[in-house]
Amino acid sequence: MTGAVRKAVFPAAGLGTRFLPATKALPKEMLPLVDKPIIQYGVDEAIASGISDIVIVTGRGKSAIEDHFDVSFELEYLLEARGQKDLLKAVRAISDKVNVAYIRQSQALGLGHAVLRSRDLVGEEAFAVVLADDVIVASTPCLEQLIGIYRTFLAPVVAVMEVPPEHARLYGMVAAEQVSERVFRVLDLVEKPKAGEAPSNLAIIGRYILTPRIFESLACVEPGSGSEIQLTDGLKHLLRTTPLYAYKFEGTRYDAGDKLGFLKATVELALRRADLGPGFREYLRGLSL
Ligand code: G1P
Repeated sequence: MTGAVRKAVFPAAGLGTRFLPATKALPKEMLPLVDKPIIQYGVDEAIASGISDIVIVTGRGKSAIEDHFDVSFELEYLLEARGQKDLLKAVRAISDKVNVAYIRQSQALGLGHAVLRSRDLVGEEAFAVVLADDVIVASTPCLEQLIGIYRTFLAPVVAVMEVPPEHARLYGMVAAEQVSERVFRVLDLVEKPKAGEAPSNLAIIGRYILTPRIFESLACVEPGSGSEIQLTDGLKHLLRTTPLYAYKFEGTRYDAGDKLGFLKATVELALRRADLGPGFREYLRGLSL
């Protein structure tokens, strides 16, 4: 196995019930953070990290995602005719920079099952998994940081961050021994532990570099938390035969899959923007709440 990571899998078949009614007809991945759909933040991060091929695992009612990453001939024609060059550039860039393939997950059987659906498209090479709900702002893209660790150890790596004990029930949690400042060797994993049962304060965040052996593990694990096939359980199975690393990434992560997290991401991403930030900051300061 070489150190190259060219492909990234984006599970995107979830129903988005936390954002109903907004997600009745619109995939949650297409909800905008400022002016970009959530999933495009992850795709842009992947491209910036050297990924050339994206596999999106979709489901029913998700065709807006396919349209978004496709060429929009009518729109490009109109923007060209109107001389709106900047918008044209932004719209073209979405479909130009990367190859996107789609595979359906026709039943919502869990994250592990979604990743398993990508097996044929991934083939025999290391690949990334990106959970688009986790939007990460970092000076070095989070996926690029993880790929660096993968190259060093030539073993699968998961991104982790420290969380307070009361939040452990929301995440896959790892037991790990520290290798260096940010790198840990994983000893055990548990998906969404009950109160008081987390093995540490290190929570898995939605960025993974995996090797194709994960597919064999995913094919044999039983449904776990939420009666779903969990990626965390697949990783625990893989750990029996393969070393696994956890990497405390540098950057800020927003949980855009949660209403409060979505609002925080919207506000902070807008404040970071050169075109919107100053005016928005002034507006926020003037609010008397
Ligand atoms: C998923 C994973 C979990 C991980 C989390 C990160 O859970 O199953 O292990 O910690 O993403 O965001 P979800 O948030 O989809 O329930």
